[in-house]
Amino acid sequence: MFRPHVVAGNWKMHKGVGEAESFVRQLEDRLEEPSRRDLIEEDLLEVVIYPTALCVHSCLISRSSDLIQVGAQNGHWEIKGAYTGEVSIGSFAEEGCGYILIGHSERRSLFGETDQDVRRKVEAVMGTGAKAMVCVGELLSEREEGRTFQVVGSQVRSAVNGLPEEFVSKRLTIAYEPVWAIGTGRTASASDAQEVCAHIRGILKEIFGPQVANGVRILYGGSVKRDNTFDILKEPDVDGLLVGGASLEVDSFLGIVDEAI
Ligand code: G3H
Repeated sequence: MFRPHVVAGNWKMHKGVGEAESFVRQLEDRLEEPSRRDLIEEDLLEVVIYPTALCVHSCLISRSSDLIQVGAQNGHWEIKGAYTGEVSIGSFAEEGCGYILIGHSERRSLFGETDQDVRRKVEAVMGTGAKAMVCVGELLSEREEGRTFQVVGSQVRSAVNGLPEEFVSKRLTIAYEPVWAIGTGRTASASDAQEVCAHIRGILKEIFGPQVANGVRILYGGSVKRDNTFDILKEPDVDGLLVGGASLEVDSFLGIVDEAI
C-alpha cells in the first residue's frame, strides 16, 4: 500500500520568534520550486516542523501556503483549567497545528511522562482536527537486554489499543526513535529500523487488521542526516523521518527532504 512520506523537524527548545519566522520563509521559498512543490501538492510528501510553543503562531502566520505544516511538540490533554505553564492540545489544534507530537523520549525521561499520559494526549488529539504523532523507543540498556520489541510493543499497545479505526488509519503516525540514537550521532542501521517498524506494524495489524495497519505511517528518528536518509527510507515499513539536530538549518533539513522524495 502506498503511504506518502513525512519529513518532520523537531526543533526542541531551539529558535526564538525571529529565527523561526526567517526559517519558515526561507524553507517555503525553496519548497516552492516545482520539483518539490508538486510532490507536496500531489500528497506524495509532507513536510512538518515542530517549533517551540512560543513560535507556533509566528510560524503559522509566516507561511503563505500549506507546503509546510506546523505542529506542536507537546500539549496538555485537558481543554482548559488550572494547569500553570501548560498549553492545551485543543488550543494548538485550534490555532492551526496539523500535528501534535506525543510522548517524545525527552518528555518521557526528563518530564516523567507515562504511557498513561501519552494515551490521554492521543485521546485529546482525537477530539480535534489534528493528527497525532506518537513517539516510542527503547533505551540502550533495554536493547542490550534483548527487550526492544517488548518495550516498544508495550508503548504502542498502550497508546492505540481500542482507538477508533478511522482515527488510526487517517490521523495516527508513529515515530520509532531508539533513545540511544537521539542526538548521539549513532543512527540505527536501516535493517534495525525496518525490523522495529515492521514489528510496530505487526502489532497494528493484530489489533486493527491489515487494512488499517497498512495505512499508518511509521517514521524513524535518531541522528538522521542527509547521508543516511535514502538507506533508511528505502525500507518498506519506514514511511518518513523525525529529525532533530539536522532540522535546525534550512540547508540540512532540505537535504533530507530532497533525499526523501
Ligand atoms: O525528535 C527528534 C529526535 O529526538 C531525533 O533527534 O535527530 O537530533 O537525533 P536527533
